[in-house]
Amino acid sequence: MKKIITLTLAIIISFNTAVRADEGMWLLPLLQKIGFPEMQKLGIRLTAKQIYDINNSSLKDAIVIFGGGCTGELVSAEGLILTNHHCGYGSIQKHSSVEHDYLKDGFWAMSRSDELPTPDLAVYFLESFEDVTDSINLAVAGIDSETERQTAIRKKITEMTAKYQGLKGMRATVSSFYAGNVFYLIVYKIYSDVRMVGAPPSSIGKYGGDTDNWVWPRHTGDFSMFRVYADRDGNPAEYSPDNVPYKPKQHLKISLKGVQKNDFTMIMGFPGRTQRYMTSWEIDERINTSNANRIHIRGIRLDLMKEDMEADRKVRIQYSSKHAGISNYWKNSIGMNKALKRLKIYDKRQQEESNFTAWVNANENRKEKYGEALKLIENAVTNRTEYQKLTLYYNEAILGSEIIENAFTVNSYLDAIKQVEDGEQKAQMLDELKEQVESFFKDYNKPTDVKITKALFKDFIENVNAEYYPECFAQIDSLYNGDINKFTDNIFATSMFCNKEKLDAYLENPDDETLETDLASQIYLSVMKKSRVLRPVTQPISEQYNKGRRLYESGLLEMNAGKKAMYPDANSTMRLTYGTVQDYYPADAVHYDYITTIDGVMQKEDPENLFEFEVPQRLKDLYKAKDYGRYAMKNGNLPVAFLSTNDITGGNSGSPVLNAKGELIGLAFDGNWEAMSGDICFEPELQRCINVDIRYVLFIIDKYAGAKHLVDEMTIVK
Ligand code: ARG
Repeated sequence: MKKIITLTLAIIISFNTAVRADEGMWLLPLLQKIGFPEMQKLGIRLTAKQIYDINNSSLKDAIVIFGGGCTGELVSAEGLILTNHHCGYGSIQKHSSVEHDYLKDGFWAMSRSDELPTPDLAVYFLESFEDVTDSINLAVAGIDSETERQTAIRKKITEMTAKYQGLKGMRATVSSFYAGNVFYLIVYKIYSDVRMVGAPPSSIGKYGGDTDNWVWPRHTGDFSMFRVYADRDGNPAEYSPDNVPYKPKQHLKISLKGVQKNDFTMIMGFPGRTQRYMTSWEIDERINTSNANRIHIRGIRLDLMKEDMEADRKVRIQYSSKHAGISNYWKNSIGMNKALKRLKIYDKRQQEESNFTAWVNANENRKEKYGEALKLIENAVTNRTEYQKLTLYYNEAILGSEIIENAFTVNSYLDAIKQVEDGEQKAQMLDELKEQVESFFKDYNKPTDVKITKALFKDFIENVNAEYYPECFAQIDSLYNGDINKFTDNIFATSMFCNKEKLDAYLENPDDETLETDLASQIYLSVMKKSRVLRPVTQPISEQYNKGRRLYESGLLEMNAGKKAMYPDANSTMRLTYGTVQDYYPADAVHYDYITTIDGVMQKEDPENLFEFEVPQRLKDLYKAKDYGRYAMKNGNLPVAFLSTNDITGGNSGSPVLNAKGELIGLAFDGNWEAMSGDICFEPELQRCINVDIRYVLFIIDKYAGAKHLVDEMTIVK
C-alpha cells in the first residue's frame, strides 16, 4: 500500500515542476497540473477545461482515433472528418480499380449520396479516462512472482471492463503507463459507418513519395476526408442507408490567419509508441538487431514489388498501399540508425544510467527498491537477442510472403470460430473471413508473390539457424535437392491460399485435414509451434525485462520528482503536445525555413520520376493564374506545409494542429530526417513536426477539386 502512495505523490510532484515546451506527450487529465502555466506563457487563450473536461463537452470531443493507427478530427456539425491522405490511403486503395483509380485521380463526393461506405473503417471517440492505479496495485499487493502479477492484473482488468462487454459500440481497455507503474481505464465509443468523402490525387496527397517521406522541406497535400454516420439517435450503428450524418458534441473551427515563427501550436492526438526511457542495451539491440534486419528484409520485398508495380498498372494499384506501408518504417529504420549514431544517443544513455546508479547507491532504501533494475534489463536484453532476430525473421520474412500471410489469416479465423458456441456468431465470423479472403485476392498478383516468397525463403535460410526452420523446409533437401525455387513452386502449385476458386470452395465446408495438409498452412503452423516451444525460454526473459523496466521507470520518477516533469511513453492514448512554429538548422551552415509554398511544388516536378513528382495540370493552371483566393498568404503566395516543435510520433498522423484559440491551422503528418531517433530521444534543436497548412487543404478542396460545398460546411474564422 505504501508504495502506491509514494509513487502517486512522486508523479504529482513531478507534474508541478518545471516543464519545457516542445518535448512531452502529456496526458490530458493532468493538464492543469503539468504544462498549463507554461502553455499560458506561450500564448494559449483557452482554459484547461475548454481543452479537456470529462464531464462537459470540450475540444477533446472533436478528436478521434481514425482507423487502426491514425488520428482524425471533426470539422463540421455534420460529422465531416479530416485526416491525412496516408491515413485514408488503405481505404482509397480499396475503392480503386483500373476503371476508378481514386489513388491516381482523387475522389470527391459532390453530394451525400456519392459518399462511399468503407467497411473495415471505424473511428473511436474518447468517452472516459479514469486512474485505476490504486485498484491494480491492491490486486497485486504481496505478489512477488512476475507471472502471478501479470495474471492478477489481467484478472482485475477483466473485472473492470466487464460491464462494457457486449455494449453496442463501446470498448473499454486498461492501459499501462510508465512501464506498469500507473494504469488508466479508458472507454471509447466506436462508430463504424464511416464514408469516404474526398481525397486529392496521389500527385498531391502523396507528392514526393518515398523520396520526400520523413524529410523536410515538404510539399505534400497529405489530407483526405471522411464522414461519420450514426443511427437516428446519434448512436453507433453498422452501415445502413438509413443512417444519418453524426452530429458531434464539438467540431473544430478553422483559422485562415496562417502561421508566423514563434506562434503557439498544440496538437492533440493518439501517438502510438515511444521509448523515451530506453536504456543503452536496448538502443544497441534496436540498431543492430531489429532495425538492421528489418531494413535488410524489407529492402528485398520493396525492390521486387516495385519492379512489378512499374511494369503493370493493375499491379501498381494492387500493391501501392502494401508498398507504402512496408516502405514507411523501412525508411524510418534507416534514418533512426543514422540519427542514433550521429547524435550519440547510446553514449548519452550510458551517462544517464551511471547517474541513476549513483543516485540509487547513495541510499540503502533506494538500493533495496531499485538496485536490480538496470541489471535485470541488461541481462534480459543480452539473453533475448537471438530470439528478437528470430521473431523478426518469422514476422517479416515468413509472414512477408503473402501466401503464408493468407494461410495465417484463414487459420486464425477458423481457430477463433471453433472457440465460439453460438451458431449465428459462427456464421457471422465465417462471413467476415470470406470478406477478408475476397479483399486479399482483389489485391493479389501471384507472380509477384512467387518472386518475393522465393527471395524471402532464400534469405531466411541464409540467415536463420536450421533448428528454427519450419518443419516442412526439410523437404528442400529431401525432395528438391536443396533447390528452394522448386520447393516454393510446389507450394504455389498445390496450396489453396494463392488460388481463389479453391479457397472459396474450401470455405463453403472447411475441414481440418485439408487445412493441415496444405503446404502454406504447414509453414504457418510450424512457425507457431516453434514459437510455442521456445516460450519456456522466452517467457522468463520477458518477465525479467518487464520487471526491470517497471523498477527503472519508478526509480526515475522518484529521482526526478520536484526537478523534472516526466511524461509517460506514448501508448496510443490521447495526448497533448504544445510548442511553437520554428525553423531549424539541420547541419552546420544549413538553414531550413519553417514554411514551404506552391513554388516548391513546381520546382520539384520531375518528368523522369512521375511516380513521385508529377504535378497535375490543373494545379499548374491555378499556379499560373495565381488563383489562390482567400487561402493566400499576405504576400499573395500559397502556403503548403509548415514546421512546429510539437512532440509527435506514428499514430499522431492526421492530428489537428491548433492555434492559441484552439482553431485548426494544419494537420500533422510527418517527422524530419535529422531527428529520426525521436521516438527514443527528443532533440529540441533538431526535432520538428511536419504539418500541412490548412489553407493548402482548403485551397485543394475548393479551388482544385471544386468541392466548395465541403468548405461551406465548415466553420471558418478569419
Ligand atoms: N512518414 C509518415 C508517417 O509515418 C507517412 C508518410 C506517408 N507518405 C509516404 N510517402 N509514404 O506518418
